[in-house]
Amino acid sequence: MHSHSRPVLAANWKMNLGTVEAGAFLDGFLSRYAPRDDRTVILFPSALVVSTVRDGTRKRPDIQLGVQNVSTEEKGAFTGENSAAMAAGAGASFVLVGHSERRHVFGEADAQAAQKCARVVEHGLVPLLCVGETIEQRERGETGEVVLHQLRAGLSMLSHEAIRDMIVAYEPVWAIGTGRTATPQDATDVHLVLRAALAGLVGEDARGIPLLYGGSVNAKNSSALLAAHEVDGLLVGGASLDPVQWAEICGS
Ligand code: 13P
Repeated sequence: MHSHSRPVLAANWKMNLGTVEAGAFLDGFLSRYAPRDDRTVILFPSALVVSTVRDGTRKRPDIQLGVQNVSTEEKGAFTGENSAAMAAGAGASFVLVGHSERRHVFGEADAQAAQKCARVVEHGLVPLLCVGETIEQRERGETGEVVLHQLRAGLSMLSHEAIRDMIVAYEPVWAIGTGRTATPQDATDVHLVLRAALAGLVGEDARGIPLLYGGSVNAKNSSALLAAHEVDGLLVGGASLDPVQWAEICGS
């Protein structure tokens, strides 16, 4: 059951698919997935491949584009970083913020997620804020507390309108890349907590904020997860690299 009427299917390619592979992916995917106006499909390639994917989807305005990260800073001497303005200029409309790998592999704190969300909105892009607990936190019964803290901190610099227009993804760290998917009920339980917190911030407008689930989603489990109460979409890593499987997931 969807509180949000158009499911969002988002592919996080992480550090996979360079220019050549992305071209081959699009050949395979676009021929298998015809445009549908009852869902939103977003691809998050490497920042170096965004313009390739933008060019490769010129005839497919139904396919949206995003980047996986941006700098907290506007511009300047930050070797190796990409700015929100650059992401917008390259054709991105969405930006992943606070992904588990940014938090746990690169040590990003909530304060940076908040600044990135603000920077992204400043440039007319939509933040897709990711939250999720570790297995230790889940076993200690801290899941609700952890995701609420990440959510509130990540949104702390955004206006009511920016929160209303954003996307949130619940990605339990223990389910990412492990083959251990949360059950549809696990996803629903956490999404209810997130929805209630969003309603506390923006009232009725919280109903329209897509809440995605991510973590070991594949073509076999995508339909059941998507059918779960309060699950408005999916954020997919590994299974989104295969054009056949990704087309199946987008059709689920
Ligand atoms: P997997 O689908 O590979 O578990 O990755 C999930 C994820 O982190 C998407 O952002």
